[in-house]
Amino acid sequence: MGSTVGLRSSPRAWGCGWNVARLLCFATICWVLGTQMEVGAWTYHYGNKSDYSWELARNFCRSFYTDLVAIQNQGEIVYLNNVLPRHRTYYWIGIRKINNVWTWVGTNKALTKEAENWANREPNNKGKNQDCVEIYIKRDHDAGRWNDENCQKKKRALCYQASCQRSSCSQRGECVETIGNYSCDCYPGFYGPECEHVVRCKNLDPRPDCSHPLGEFSYNSTCKFQCQEGFELQGLDTLQCLASGNWTAAAPECAAVKCPVLDSPGRGRLNCTHWHGDFTYNSTCAFSCETGFVRNGLETLECTALGQWKGRPPRCEAVKCPVLAALERGRLNCTHWHGDFTYNST
Ligand SMILES: *[C@@H]1O[C@H](CO)[C@@H](O)[C@H](O)[C@H]1NC(C)=O
Ligand SMILES: *[C@@H]1O[C@H](CO)[C@@H](O)[C@H](O)[C@H]1NC(C)=O
Ligand SMILES: *[C@@H]1O[C@H](CO)[C@@H](O)[C@H](O)[C@H]1NC(C)=O
Ligand SMILES: *[C@@H]1O[C@H](CO)[C@@H](O)[C@H](O)[C@H]1NC(C)=O
Ligand SMILES: *[C@@H]1O[C@H](CO)[C@@H](O)[C@H](O)[C@H]1NC(C)=O
Ligand SMILES: *[C@@H]1O[C@H](CO)[C@@H](O)[C@H](O)[C@H]1NC(C)=O
Ligand SMILES: *[C@@H]1O[C@H](CO)[C@@H](O)[C@H](O)[C@H]1NC(C)=O
Repeated sequence: MGSTVGLRSSPRAWGCGWNVARLLCFATICWVLGTQMEVGAWTYHYGNKSDYSWELARNFCRSFYTDLVAIQNQGEIVYLNNVLPRHRTYYWIGIRKINNVWTWVGTNKALTKEAENWANREPNNKGKNQDCVEIYIKRDHDAGRWNDENCQKKKRALCYQASCQRSSCSQRGECVETIGNYSCDCYPGFYGPECEHVVRCKNLDPRPDCSHPLGEFSYNSTCKFQCQEGFELQGLDTLQCLASGNWTAAAPECAAVKCPVLDSPGRGRLNCTHWHGDFTYNSTCAFSCETGFVRNGLETLECTALGQWKGRPPRCEAVKCPVLAALERGRLNCTHWHGDFTYNST
């Protein structure tokens, strides 16, 4: 069916740059790798069974390889002229006239002036309808140069096979053809020769409620935080792992809900136990009164999950004595310190 003749360099920069060093490289490595229909290497192939019209030659290339060759630089031409065998009718390449413009059929881009490589006095459209392009391989003169030809003429198909496959780069990056292989420009969030690794973010602890579409605490993982009853979130409740390996924000914290600060009552004391911070959820405060005073409310208050005290703070009131009446035909002269007829009244 076909023959393989080595590898070519990146097609990215059509018609720019002439790179001879690369050619020396593929002349050496690539002959070694160059088995027919090799996948995973950019190789040249030609149909050596029969000659085809340009259209059929293209079909042949597209059926068995990638397409008719597109030539990107002078070095590549030198290389092809070196490695391909001479063939009486020469070889079709991937340029044809479309709407009167010479066009690379693979990329549908017009041939630029700099990339032109016509043989002497070509293209001449001799006899009209010379709408396709052949390359003179090992011709006595104009070797490696191009000629416009009638598309119905039969010539060898000169094909290439790209290295990049649909599955290359784990479909997580852009596949770029290189000499004899390809390399991967990984999309953000992925790395590795085949973009097989996913960027990781730091583990979050204690484990919140997360979804990990691409891997544990990795790019695109999202985590939702919730606090226990009596605690409220300080910060964002949802974090996402970014392609940089950072979370969108610092992990939030759960802080105990606060209750209003309590003061010691007049003539009394407050004895509080705080579990999660001063006057916060689950703090309990016990009230006691000085000698001679009694509490007029609850002994202890507890701070609830809603940030309210369970009950009202008590007050300390002076102990009451029975009211004294004035003597008959006499007088009562009292001094009250804490209220009528109470503790310390005389
Ligand atoms: C065509 O190429 C194949 C593979 O390189 C080779 O085995 C075969 O002999 C060639 N056929 C002819 C007619 O040159
Ligand atoms: C080709 O390149 C890919 C991606 O960088 C790599 O995984 C693979 O091993 C390479 N193959 C060869 C034959 O060098
Ligand atoms: C990552 O998540 C974003 C939306 O947040 C989505 O658009 C993108 O496709 C995801 N990437 C991958 C590789 O899953
Ligand atoms: C993101 O992570 C990089 C290191 O991976 C670090 O240098 C940078 O400061 C981080 N940016 C933010 C906003 O945290
Ligand atoms: C406060 O209360 C705790 C127990 O509720 C008790 O052990 C402690 O002695 C009290 N402190 C004072 C100063 O009364
Ligand atoms: C709150 O206090 C109760 C008993 O008073 C205890 O059982 C519970 O574990 C406490 N909760 C927290 C979150 O401290
Ligand atoms: C009541 O007693 C105080 C001192 O105990 C005295 O100063 C005051 O004058 C007395 N008032 C009357 C009306 O006697």
